Amino acid sequence: MALSKISTSYSPSHTLKSKPGVPFHGHDAKRTGVSFEPHRRLRISCSVAPNEVQAPVAPAIPSDKASNRECYGVFCTTYDLRADEKTKSWKSLIKIAVSGAAGMISNHLLFKLASGVVFGPDQPIALQLLGSERSLQALEGVAMELEDSLYPLLREVSIGTNPYEIFQDCEWALLIGAKPRGPGMERAGLLDINGQIFAEQGKALNAVASRNVKVIVVGNPCNTNALICLKNAPNIPAKNFHALTRLDENRAKCQLALKAGVFYDKVSNMTIWGNHSTTQVPDFLNAKINGIPAKEVIKDTKWLETEFTERIQKRGGVLIQKWGRSSAASTAVSIADAIRSLVTPTPEGDWFSSGVYTNGNTYGIAEDIVFSMPCRSKGDGDYELATDVIIDDFLRARIKKTEAELLAEKRCVAHLTGEGNAFCDLPEDTMLPGEQ
Ligand code: LMR
Repeated sequence: MALSKISTSYSPSHTLKSKPGVPFHGHDAKRTGVSFEPHRRLRISCSVAPNEVQAPVAPAIPSDKASNRECYGVFCTTYDLRADEKTKSWKSLIKIAVSGAAGMISNHLLFKLASGVVFGPDQPIALQLLGSERSLQALEGVAMELEDSLYPLLREVSIGTNPYEIFQDCEWALLIGAKPRGPGMERAGLLDINGQIFAEQGKALNAVASRNVKVIVVGNPCNTNALICLKNAPNIPAKNFHALTRLDENRAKCQLALKAGVFYDKVSNMTIWGNHSTTQVPDFLNAKINGIPAKEVIKDTKWLETEFTERIQKRGGVLIQKWGRSSAASTAVSIADAIRSLVTPTPEGDWFSSGVYTNGNTYGIAEDIVFSMPCRSKGDGDYELATDVIIDDFLRARIKKTEAELLAEKRCVAHLTGEGNAFCDLPEDTMLPGEQ
């Protein structure tokens, strides 16, 4: 009989000392304030070994450790665990770090991750949840709900405010937490404040994450945040960093399906080019409906060029106007889709959109930015750019506009990417989707 335990440590009043050369950094939850206070140690962990069932026995916290941690609910008890035959074919556990973990997007996402619908029904996971000082209590609530959900695949949960602790050995980092643009804040100010968060998180990933960690940046402005993050993580391949444009791809598929009068699973090869902003380019030239070019199915070119394109570019803002807050559930779904697209082989002939580092692309897009492009994966976590795409003059002109915006954003964060002094000349006619 295998023996294991469920355990926790919870010491809200203790301050960790920084390791030499490893500073502590503040972090905010998605759309909450930024804190740069020292990190408190706050960790709740649940670790149930595979092949085991539970039978309560005595508390497990050694008396010498009990003084500096406080147990939490079910985690205060140690269990003997018995072999469970069904779990024997499970893969080895992977560690997934999530920032902004007490926010709305995470609240939808974490339960999908824990249920097995993203990484597969044979993939046990550990969730390492990063929040801010302000969100710690809410993060405990999230951990409680995860506990209460009894997910067999969820083997460990830890929470905290220090990315150097939370990113330790993670194989996936889902960076959701970012500061929203407040009233009167210039876009350059938003780039700077969020850029600092992502510079720090890049450094933390560089120091402690798995060398092959896959990073998906969700916090806006996500393309440039991803660029800042990867520039601060020189020991992690730049190719491993993604900015989430899958939500835009999903939105575009839905609108094409609506117009064509088909179900959205009939729409394929949907590329979003460029920035997750109002300059993004939903590509109806290469998209297909029932395997036929979308332009042959939807003959209303004016609609495709204007209404369709603007609807996708501004969808996030319209949603905020109607709902009073930023998209959360659909964003979480699109993060799950983005991960699945990397861990399962892309269907033959199809592709998916992701904001990736432009290093040697064949489309003529400027190098050294994070730009959404069509990607294919063998299901090994990696991707290659699709080569069978056509670019006409209309598409090229739109791609150039979103490229110009990203190059301007890059100049504006040069101080955070190690490229000298920042110079902000952001185009005034463009916005983040939620800025309208
Ligand atoms: C979205 O596209 O829904 C969001 O990125 C909007 C926002 O700015 O939060």
